[in-house]
Amino acid sequence: MNAIVAVCSDWGIGHKGALLVHSKADMHRFVELTMGGTVVMGRHTLESFPGGPLKGRRNVVITHNPAALPEGVVGVESPAAALEAVAADDPNKVWLIGGESVYRALLDKCTRVFVTKFDVEKPADAFFPNLDDDPAWKVESVQDGGTTTKGTHFSFVTYARQ
Ligand SMILES: NC(=O)c1ccc[n+]([C@@H]2O[C@H](COP(=O)([O-])OP(=O)(O)OC[C@H]3O[C@@H](n4cnc5c(N)ncnc54)[C@H](OP(=O)(O)O)[C@@H]3O)[C@@H](O)[C@H]2O)c1
Repeated sequence: MNAIVAVCSDWGIGHKGALLVHSKADMHRFVELTMGGTVVMGRHTLESFPGGPLKGRRNVVITHNPAALPEGVVGVESPAAALEAVAADDPNKVWLIGGESVYRALLDKCTRVFVTKFDVEKPADAFFPNLDDDPAWKVESVQDGGTTTKGTHFSFVTYARQ
């Protein structure tokens, strides 16, 4: 399983249920990488998608109350149950897509983390663990992403577990 996340300079990822920075290039990359695979997420992250479950991907959603989930998603009651739900999948096509609680619960099951790093800080109430401070992770590649329409520079950084 791999994780994919968009972070600000302080590893902030969200505020009041929403993303911090919007970038079409980042969105396209997210779709390109995850399409055809399985996405694993927490219930808040599902609710943050304006169009509901992500199309063209199997949506595995962690919640204490799977009966309340919309149709078209696979509801599971714990991070461990999410792992069981994806056990038969090609691990390269399983994507941990957040939010904070789910990243923290399952990051140690991930082989790679695809990070979009925005060179800006924004008020945040959800964070991703700082991989630069964790010797378990090393930068494998860095690619310039360009700038958002608001002029924020960003890069695509892939971390691999050591
Ligand atoms: N920048 C990015 O790349 C990115 C990506 C994804 C999300 N985000 C942001 O992250 C924020 C959301 O993060 P979050 O941590 O609040 O929400 P989350 O992880 O998406 O969802 C939390 C919910 O997942 C369920 N859950 C989590 N752990 C569980 C467990 N052990 N057992 C059973 N259910 C469990 C619970 O649902 P129930 O309450 O239904 O039981 C919990 O309320 C938002 O601001 C979002 O925009 C950012």
